[in-house]
Amino acid sequence: MSGLQFPATAQDWRAQARGRLPRFLFDYLDGGAGDERTLAANVQAWGQATLRQRVLVDVSQVDTRTRLAGQDCALPLALAPVGLAGMMARRGEAQALRAASGAQVPFTLSTVGICGLNEVCAAAPAGAPPPWFQLYMLRDRGAVRALLEQAWQAGCRTLVFTVDLPLPGMRQRDVRNGMAHRGARAALLRASQLLARPGWVWDVALRGKPLSFGSLASQVPGGRDLNAFKAWVDAQFDPSVTWQDIDWLRTQWRGRLLLKGLLDVQDARAAAAAGAEGIVVSNHGGRQLDGVAATAEVLPAIARAVGGQLEVLVDGGVRSGTDLFRALALGARGVLIGRPWVWALAAGGEAGVRQLLAAWQRELLLAMTLTGVTRVADIGPEQLDRVSSQI
Ligand code: FNR
Repeated sequence: MSGLQFPATAQDWRAQARGRLPRFLFDYLDGGAGDERTLAANVQAWGQATLRQRVLVDVSQVDTRTRLAGQDCALPLALAPVGLAGMMARRGEAQALRAASGAQVPFTLSTVGICGLNEVCAAAPAGAPPPWFQLYMLRDRGAVRALLEQAWQAGCRTLVFTVDLPLPGMRQRDVRNGMAHRGARAALLRASQLLARPGWVWDVALRGKPLSFGSLASQVPGGRDLNAFKAWVDAQFDPSVTWQDIDWLRTQWRGRLLLKGLLDVQDARAAAAAGAEGIVVSNHGGRQLDGVAATAEVLPAIARAVGGQLEVLVDGGVRSGTDLFRALALGARGVLIGRPWVWALAAGGEAGVRQLLAAWQRELLLAMTLTGVTRVADIGPEQLDRVSSQI
């Protein structure tokens, strides 16, 4: 392992991942849209919430456990869906699922994950809850139905439907590296070119399996032909999706539905009206519209408006267990994390992700202890001393 022997923080894992991954993959993971203002703001905004330390409270029994989407979790956190994560380490999503299961937090498999649903579910230890499945709407609704059926059969009961990607954002690092902005097709093409060169860490990652988005592979006419596959994926993202499609999705999916990618109070109210069980307040980690607000800024108003009706989760820029605590104090029920788990995966595989999650659980415990809260459900605005005018 290059770099630090004992990575302590998300930034330490990031530094290690940077030393290990080919440049274009690191940039794909790390980067955001446009000038990366929203990406930077996401990270920075959590720090605006100042914590309120309290003393001489009995904190001998502090409990970080909670329930998210009906599932028992050791801490209020889930791994966010990250496309191509399986290229960052050998059979990467399967490793991450095992780490998440060990840490008792949910893992979300992306529609465009490298490992398919069956492979990921098979990697789970006996008795572990199945992953959440993330869906991008495809033009071919028959393929969507088949994916949902596959997810249901595999045991998935929580669907994360991502609504903030009618088109992929302008990710300038990917443009410079020849990865974008044709989206999935260009990414696979570039990856397949580089795969022919020996020695990359992810050359090992696929371990003899064809390069494809695992869950989608079975839906593609032409099967395993990479060119046919790329052309199909490229043509499938559907920008015509509206709230009516949520109604349709509701008729196709019997499990829990979380809508991911909302930033607006009105949209949050519409999500509640559409019967979603939850939302993820998210700007896709600053990868879609650069210039939108940091998620910490919009979270309190959304949580006030719909927190009583549905589970409000948030993601974007959460970089420590203390940030997680801040998100809860600002009204979230839990957080999703994207880049941090993939940095840890790239640098340390399953063990890396486990280590990261253990450190964050300890940080959360510490923040609860020193603010005098013993249960996750009791974390709220009272634990904040001051919130800058920005959030
Ligand atoms: C993502 N994200 C994402 N979201 C989604 O719904 N489906 C996907 O396939 C992907 N793919 C993806 C790839 C990469 C490389 C990144 C960094 C992000 C967004 C992700 O789920 C989450 O919203 C953000 O990553 C949260 O921000 P942080 O934690 O990365 O700052």
